Amino acid sequence: MATSSTRTVPQTSAIPQHVAIIMDGNGRWASKRLLPRTAGHAKGVQSVRRAVETCGKLGVRYLTLFAFSSENWRRPAEEVTLLMRLFVQALEREVARLQEQGVCLHVVGDLSAFEPRLQELILQAQAQTAHNDKLHLTIAANYGGRWDILQATRRMLSAQPDLATDPEKIQEEVFESYLSMAWAPEPDLFIRTGGEQRISNFLIWQLAYAELYFTDCYWPDFGEDELLHAFEWYRNRERRFGRTSAQLHAKSAS
Ligand code: FPP
Repeated sequence: MATSSTRTVPQTSAIPQHVAIIMDGNGRWASKRLLPRTAGHAKGVQSVRRAVETCGKLGVRYLTLFAFSSENWRRPAEEVTLLMRLFVQALEREVARLQEQGVCLHVVGDLSAFEPRLQELILQAQAQTAHNDKLHLTIAANYGGRWDILQATRRMLSAQPDLATDPEKIQEEVFESYLSMAWAPEPDLFIRTGGEQRISNFLIWQLAYAELYFTDCYWPDFGEDELLHAFEWYRNRERRFGRTSAQLHAKSAS
């Protein structure tokens, strides 16, 4: 992770550098229209496209989307199958568009649970877009924040077994380098659509100092105007990172 918000005060800007989104409300969007829940997910793919375009246009560098949580396997089998099909279709159809927009695609999560064809498409899409640097789009799939912390701990201790006998050496920087998004700065802005106000096991380590924005808008209805509204809200937040408001004002006056 570029800068740890708990070790140093990160640079901030009017436009968030890293936006993380829980795309909730697809099922309710569909039910309201007497459509199957899966129609909401299909419509949700269009909102993903719009969010990528808008973030690219506005200069956001990292966009991370929670597409499938470790807990989503608990859903009805036909819904899980449809979601997997949507991932496959998106990977087959969208890579050319991502290339045009200079988007580097990353997929994080326990990918071993996915069928081999999907795993292969993920690897191909990542390789094809690896040289792009305008916007880093990360899809969290079969991801959970607790899974991430555990996999990081296991990998850290396998790579550096000496740390087990000298735990004082386990500093934030060491541990963070094993998290699945170690290459990205922490999210500045977290958005959850669909009216719920919780983090649902998403990036629980990295969201320590993110600004949390919740909207009732269902994900399929979340377009450019809604994203701009979230950015406007973000611009008006006072990001103190543990300092007092007076300290911040004294700094901006000097
Ligand atoms: C939550 O809505 C949404 C999901 C679990 C899946 C999100 C998937 C997509 C937007 C489509 C595929 C994405 C990509 C990147 C190809 P919900 O089903 O929990 O809605 P509800 O709360 O109204 O039931």
